[in-house]
Amino acid sequence: MDSDSVSPYKLIFKALTLIPISHYLLISVFVSIVFVYNLLEFHILQDVFGGFGGGSVSLTFGSGSELYAEVVSKCSLLHGRYLATPWLSSPHLQTILLNAVVKTPKFMYKRELFRTSDGGTIALDWLMNSDVAETSFQVNGTSTAADIPLLILVPGLTSDQNSPYIKEIAYKMAKHGWNVVVSNHRGLGGVPLTSECFYTAGKSDDLGEVVNYLHQKQPETPLYALGTSLGANILVKYLGEDGVKVPLVGAVSISNPWDLLIGDRFYTRGIMQKFYNRVLGNSLKGAAKLHQEVYARLSDWEGIEKSRSIRDFNNYSARIAGNFETIDAFHRWASCARLVTNVSVPLFCLNAIDDPVCTDEAIPWDEIRKNKNIVLATTEHGGHIAFFEGISGKSLWWIRVVEEYLSKLHVSPSLSKQQMNKFKESASETLQFEDSVSRDNKKSV
Ligand SMILES: *[C@@H]1O[C@H](CO)[C@@H](O)[C@H](O)[C@H]1NC(C)=O
Ligand SMILES: *[C@@H]1O[C@H](CO)[C@@H](O)[C@H](O)[C@H]1NC(C)=O
Ligand SMILES: *[C@@H]1O[C@H](CO)[C@@H](O)[C@H](O)[C@H]1NC(C)=O
Repeated sequence: MDSDSVSPYKLIFKALTLIPISHYLLISVFVSIVFVYNLLEFHILQDVFGGFGGGSVSLTFGSGSELYAEVVSKCSLLHGRYLATPWLSSPHLQTILLNAVVKTPKFMYKRELFRTSDGGTIALDWLMNSDVAETSFQVNGTSTAADIPLLILVPGLTSDQNSPYIKEIAYKMAKHGWNVVVSNHRGLGGVPLTSECFYTAGKSDDLGEVVNYLHQKQPETPLYALGTSLGANILVKYLGEDGVKVPLVGAVSISNPWDLLIGDRFYTRGIMQKFYNRVLGNSLKGAAKLHQEVYARLSDWEGIEKSRSIRDFNNYSARIAGNFETIDAFHRWASCARLVTNVSVPLFCLNAIDDPVCTDEAIPWDEIRKNKNIVLATTEHGGHIAFFEGISGKSLWWIRVVEEYLSKLHVSPSLSKQQMNKFKESASETLQFEDSVSRDNKKSV
């Protein structure tokens, strides 16, 4: 036999050369589409086969939860379904395009500069119900300004009052009859650092001072707070640290990272996570650069400049400034998850299971079930602080959820009244407490 003509490899090669180039192109296009579809975790096929019905919302809470029975059970959106905008049916697209797609409402805040006890400056940006409502909901003249509830917004990592999603919720809530104030992190919102201290992932005492100040300034006003992303971590950490002393009627946590140590491990995993790690690390560096002198005095500026991740950035800034032995020790300290059991005000939380920035592995399910003050809602899709809905993608589902939940909580006879009465009883204690704080301030000045 002629060995040359029967070499199977040659035959295969010959066969392959007979296939037209255009077929190869088609195959490579198909493979690329499958690759990108998986990389960006698209779920459009799942949505199509589900008849665009969306996914139901899972609610987690302990048995006998008054917050569920009184408030959450009356929220129709939380008992409905969430369907992502079809052309944004990927948690990555939702997250990356968040600020590009959400339309930014046009309005002006009124700024107030708040001085913290250590001489730091926090920019408080106010938007009142009367600034945006054509007709105020206080039309009947019987109610006073003190009856209008005040919502304190705590933005996410390097976000401020002008981040489109913050403007969107501020505007929507003001339209719905609320007064709103954005409590910026120190050094953000265009103000200088006026003391030897910068904000970090676990810096919750600033928020505590802002809340106590607002409560003292308008003791009759029902106060609520909402944090997004890292702002949610800071808010829940504060709620856990101050426990029963927190003068809020209610709080909301959106896309909370919960546990920064687990989050840190998660960031080293996939291609997309490494991408977010780099992008967020760079935005932290950018924000720090505005206050380079203070960072250089308190931490390692050379290290910060070389940082290529959130972990590096924190290792060279927050860890050194806070005197933590290791970066993991800082991450453990800064996480709100360890304080969830101590939260004493009604707290509603929302996380998407496919959130590509804050992993669902970090959600403290057991602690949440154990604390009767907390209800957690999770959806399969939604990305990070996004939850786009509708064909145009102009609406953020989470903002509608928050509006419905907070208005139901606000009129809930037992929960909101209970909280307000508690403050009145403790008013004298608060005064004593404020006294000792101001005495301490004088000492340190
Ligand atoms: C104002 O009064 C009208 C009718 O008198 C009533 O329907 C409406 O609910 C009242 N609004 C408020 C905010 O009390
Ligand atoms: C829990 O809250 C109380 C106040 O209610 C506070 O004194 C205590 O320090 C908090 N616990 C932790 C671990 O922060
Ligand atoms: C953190 O920074 C120190 C130097 O300040 C360095 O020795 C250490 O290896 C860094 N740790 C990590 C985990 O990068």
